[in-house]
Amino acid sequence: MKIRTAVFPVAGRGTRFLPATKASPKEMLPIVDKPLIQYAVEEALQAGAEKLVFVTGSAKRAIEDHFDPDHELEQELATKGREHTLNSLRGIVPSYASCIFIRQPYPLGLGHAVLCSRPAVGHEPFFVHLADDLIDAEEACLGQMARVFERHGGSVLGVQTVKPEETDKYGIVEADAVDAQVSRVRRIVEKPKPKDAPSTLAVVGRYVLTPAIYGKLETIGRGAGGEIQLTDGIEALLADEPIFAYAFEGKRYDCGSKLGYLEANVEFALKHPQLGGKFADYLRRRVAEGLSADVARKSNGVVSSV
Ligand code: G1P
Repeated sequence: MKIRTAVFPVAGRGTRFLPATKASPKEMLPIVDKPLIQYAVEEALQAGAEKLVFVTGSAKRAIEDHFDPDHELEQELATKGREHTLNSLRGIVPSYASCIFIRQPYPLGLGHAVLCSRPAVGHEPFFVHLADDLIDAEEACLGQMARVFERHGGSVLGVQTVKPEETDKYGIVEADAVDAQVSRVRRIVEKPKPKDAPSTLAVVGRYVLTPAIYGKLETIGRGAGGEIQLTDGIEALLADEPIFAYAFEGKRYDCGSKLGYLEANVEFALKHPQLGGKFADYLRRRVAEGLSADVARKSNGVVSSV
């Protein structure tokens, strides 16, 4: 069955990026020249999604505005003959795709946010995409996972091995290998301390879920951090259905952390068709000068020329 719907839980306040995220959603932080949420939508579209469901909260209006056409701006760009910029705006959401915005009334956690998407998803399998986790891959990560879903027929979790001391930042799975990239999940725990973690295989913000998850999310109650956890819903679903972990191809950037966000910006800037060459020159000069902050303060005009 083709997966047509992608859910983007975007209600979280992004406190790690304050004050940048005080009045502006963390999902609108740009990687070079596109906001994180646009990368998320592009990945879902590449994987075949046509219905884009955003679960939003307070201070998130900018996301709705971003995916709405802006006729006035388009008109202005057309008058000025700025075709390239105009096309970059028109291509944000293709005409066959629809955007649905649902408000999460209370900040009760990721599981609750996914539960809020139920009226828009219905009785079909769907993607869940966490925009903080940016994955740079030749084939869209969700597309890879859709193929695993077709082959194995159960929910699929995108996983990656993390450092043992980092298990308390992730949902951690215990799983039996099926092939080199796919394993069958036996257990999943939300943010276990390293000493309690069943493995170092962490879920990183990509899910294909069957609609049976909704029944579980309704009844599980609050878990880690007093929130309704998606991880607990998945653990409950294991009693009824097979669930698979998939070690995707691609590089993941943790854009929920400042360091990961900066790394993503550097890597995407280096690949950027217009900026890449000049930015690489700048980095080379900068490395040659030495990387201490003192040198940056002394060098004049270098940054502004990029
Ligand atoms: C959420 C999930 C966690 C998952 C992580 C991936 O945590 O609860 O299971 O491993 O996303 O980024 P959060 O990062 O929102 O605290």
